[in-house]
Amino acid sequence: MSDTRILVIGACGQVGTELVENLALRFGNDAVIASDIRDEASFDLAYIKLDVMDREAVKNAIVKHKITEVYNLAALLSATAEKNPEFGWKLNMEGLFSILDLAKEGVIKKVFWPSSIAVFGPTTPRIDTPQFTIIEPTTVYGISKFAGERWCEYYHKRWGVDVRSVRYPGLIGYKSLPGGGTTDYAVDIFHQALKEGSYECFLKENTALPMMYMSDAIKATIDIMQVPAEEIKIRSSYNISAMSFDPAQIANEIKKHIPEFSISYNPDFRQAIADNWPASINDNEARKDWNWSNAFTLENMVTDMLENLKERNLVG
Ligand code: SER
Repeated sequence: MSDTRILVIGACGQVGTELVENLALRFGNDAVIASDIRDEASFDLAYIKLDVMDREAVKNAIVKHKITEVYNLAALLSATAEKNPEFGWKLNMEGLFSILDLAKEGVIKKVFWPSSIAVFGPTTPRIDTPQFTIIEPTTVYGISKFAGERWCEYYHKRWGVDVRSVRYPGLIGYKSLPGGGTTDYAVDIFHQALKEGSYECFLKENTALPMMYMSDAIKATIDIMQVPAEEIKIRSSYNISAMSFDPAQIANEIKKHIPEFSISYNPDFRQAIADNWPASINDNEARKDWNWSNAFTLENMVTDMLENLKERNLVG
């Protein structure tokens, strides 16, 4: 049996919901504790209410449950943080520091903290965006993720903190809903296609963004945490990539399964956020350093999403 004991913070979010499930499958239900700001949650394993900014509560929980690794997913995403910049900055940064400091003190051994394609901005090359490039984010979320990346690298270099990170693209899954991101349309579109047969998109038809199926994102997250420390060459955050499409392209793919589906466009403030992000990402370093690879591209992702959502509606 491994001694790994995991705390997932932000477990009720889009990524957390699926990550907890997968970590439990891999390490056993007893080795994983889910936590979030909500009073209650319905996991098949231990759940505790935890505010990541409450350092003492976090430390107490970690000591009490003999936690060795923390996955800190608590954050305000791009669209929500633009509506509440001060809180977005506070939560995203204080949450990270609270965990990095516990790792620095030696209370935990390993940390996962996600960054995002939101670190990139209008001066970054938009196509096949390299790992190392101009990074001038223009959203609060992007600024917080970029600052966080620099701090992760700093804690690693200065104090040997074993922190690992990937820059998530837009994430698409059928088990959970996204909360407050610019890429959320790529999940909403499936639900509306099945329910209404039509979708009004808040981005323009030709706005291409990097995207990934949730099972691939979970695989990247768990894989990067299992690799021997010396193989992790980048301690800020790794680019990871799977597919790139715009709303018209995903709509066409959905139409192959639901011919009567129609899409219309009514861009809102999220268009300006998307316009400053890359269209596609180069992830050579992740593929080389820790063997990252994706299983899903647009075509098989759309098929899998629709099959699973239909099945869930039938049983649910
Ligand atoms: N999906 C995120 C967002 O749109 C990007 O990391 O905010």
